Amino acid sequence: MPNDASIKIDGKEYPYPVMIGSEGEKAIDVRNLRKDSGHIFYDQGYGNTGSCESQVTFLDGDNGILRHRGYPIDQLAKHSDYIETAYLVIYGELPTEAQRKKFGDLLRENAHIEPQMQRLFEGYPKNTPPMVVLASLVASLAGYYPDLATNNFEKDLQQFDLSAAMAISKIRTLGAMVYRHGRGLPFMHPKALPFCDNFLHLMFSEPYHDYVAIPEVTSALNLILLMHADHEQNCSTSTVRMVGSSGANLFTSLAAGIGALSGPLHGGANTAVMNMLQSIHDENDDGTRFIEAAKGGSKSNRLMGFGHAVYRNFDPRARVIGEACSVVLKKLGKSDPLLDIAQNLEQAALKDDYFVSRKLYPNVDFYSGIIFRALGIPTNMFTVMFAIGRAPGWIANWKEVASNPKGRIYRPRQVYTGPVKRDYVPMARRG
Ligand code: CMC
Repeated sequence: MPNDASIKIDGKEYPYPVMIGSEGEKAIDVRNLRKDSGHIFYDQGYGNTGSCESQVTFLDGDNGILRHRGYPIDQLAKHSDYIETAYLVIYGELPTEAQRKKFGDLLRENAHIEPQMQRLFEGYPKNTPPMVVLASLVASLAGYYPDLATNNFEKDLQQFDLSAAMAISKIRTLGAMVYRHGRGLPFMHPKALPFCDNFLHLMFSEPYHDYVAIPEVTSALNLILLMHADHEQNCSTSTVRMVGSSGANLFTSLAAGIGALSGPLHGGANTAVMNMLQSIHDENDDGTRFIEAAKGGSKSNRLMGFGHAVYRNFDPRARVIGEACSVVLKKLGKSDPLLDIAQNLEQAALKDDYFVSRKLYPNVDFYSGIIFRALGIPTNMFTVMFAIGRAPGWIANWKEVASNPKGRIYRPRQVYTGPVKRDYVPMARRG
């Protein structure tokens, strides 16, 4: 690597190599900066920090480009399905027919939740937020499958195919169980069905009545899960990588990622968007008050489903999902007044200088809830749906960390701004 960048500090130049990614992303490799100069880079929120090399997803936020393993998201949305895309994200290539079948078989064989583990649900009040239950149950998988979760990279990777399939399949099953637990409904057993149909069965069948799959519903579910499959180094994926970098097993790392996803600025935004649209609807409002409040600069009043840490252009996922909303509703013979409200809100925000000047566009969460709602999924489950969809991305990123022989534990530094050294004050002399 040529030494083609230098950093000048107090008159002294420090040369550093420039790395260039396969899509032309340039980065200055400053790993030795502190050792060489005594300085660190300050980059609050890591917005300008490449924390890893990754081969999974390419994202160009300025131009609204998203590709998994090189394949554009709109092509995958058009031609692929969630499970094929999950395979692609995790293993790097589109599966052959035999690989696809083997993967599907593993998913089906590992869909169940052990009876003993099912009893863990009894400890949760019915109104526990679904993401809280999901995170803790996914963490529990490490206890039920200790051979797959040894906290030893080499051993855990030997059984990676099984643990990856298990994670995808069981997060889906657990997601449906979280829903049924919250409603006081009995759990359904998984069947030998395709992944999305099985999810709908686990959610909506009753002991006395099998859910009958509607092809339009299955394909909408496939699309929406696929659209969430991975998204580069977002907050939850970076969390999975960070936890994994300590040697933690896949299930523990995924549970941490679920926790990160639950926040309203990340995956929790899809629930917040729906609550906002619903309250505009219920109060017969035109949405102006949300737009005006969002312009006040407070993090708690942001226009949910708008803006993105990386996109400075349309989120390509929002475009696909936004267009799919009307198609899905039409196919299902449904209408949803919240779709009109969302479209009007989008138009109003995109005419407002506050949003235009900051390049704030709708993101993936802006329209996804309309589709979830059309599928019969309640608002408090939206972020669980995001987690089910995102599992392949988390798994692929955990694998990169676990299989990198040169990987280091993630350990950022800080600029300390607390008190300087002072001597201990005994209780009698305080206050
Ligand atoms: N409403 C109002 N103002 C906003 C919004 C918004 N939704 N998003 C950003 N801003 C403002 C922000 O306050 C800042 O203003 P100023 O320059 O005056 O200080 C400016 O726009 C630039 O913000 P940024 O640096 O682009 O934003 P960020 O990287 O700190 O945050 C974000 C990114 C996604 C957390 C933020 O846009 C947000 O809170 N959006 C609403 C929540 C949301 O929809 N989250 C889902 C994100 S996509 C899916 C996912 O990752 O889970």
